[in-house]
Amino acid sequence: MIIAIDGPAGSGKSTIANILASRFGYNKLDSGAMYRTVAFICADDGIDLNDEDAVVRRADALDIAFDTTGPRARVLADGRDVTDDIRTPATDRIVSAVSAYPGVRSALLPCQRAFANGRDVVAEGRDIGTVVFPDADLKVFLTADPRERARRRVLQRHPEGAPDATTMERELTQTLADLERRDEIDAHRAVAPLRAADDAVSIDSTAHTIDEIVDRIVELANERRAQ
Ligand code: DC
Repeated sequence: MIIAIDGPAGSGKSTIANILASRFGYNKLDSGAMYRTVAFICADDGIDLNDEDAVVRRADALDIAFDTTGPRARVLADGRDVTDDIRTPATDRIVSAVSAYPGVRSALLPCQRAFANGRDVVAEGRDIGTVVFPDADLKVFLTADPRERARRRVLQRHPEGAPDATTMERELTQTLADLERRDEIDAHRAVAPLRAADDAVSIDSTAHTIDEIVDRIVELANERRAQ
């Protein structure tokens, strides 16, 4: 079975996809990590990110692998562990531009499809239900109010607990602006824009707990399995 979970940044996709994958014993495909890896490696190599041909050439040559043997999945780029590098605010700022290049998308698409290769998968991203796995058994489009999504992102960056009110407000304002900019690029690019597949179930996570959303998706998956 393939479960596709698409949605904008901070909508809860990763957390929910991780829980579903471990609950069902499925493999999890984090397609955003692949786009992040291309963006990070190009920047790290000193490639001009406005030079589409150079970025696409690097993406074509890049080997991206997931190491799931440890407690936390590691992302490897040509064998180098980039797990932490791809999650920095610096990578956040460049990834949408890089992932809008059609050549980058066509470089990653076969790897994403090969990841499934007949296995049970929970895949998360922006175009999983529309482009990567258009025949997925279950498609979910997760949304949430932008301010709530920004709040979640800020809290993720402070695992020790929420910062003081002034810091929180400052980080919220910056994160909300970054996130809205990224949504704008992701939703309006020419190839594989962020959008719900026609047959996706849309779930707004703003006022729901993670457990409530997971329970709803498990219910939907069980219904699909019984069909
Ligand atoms: O899910 P994420 O925030 O890690 O994704 C990072 C970026 O990668 C996102 O801003 C757009 C891009 N992306 C994409 O274009 N298509 C996907 N299937 C997944 C992510």
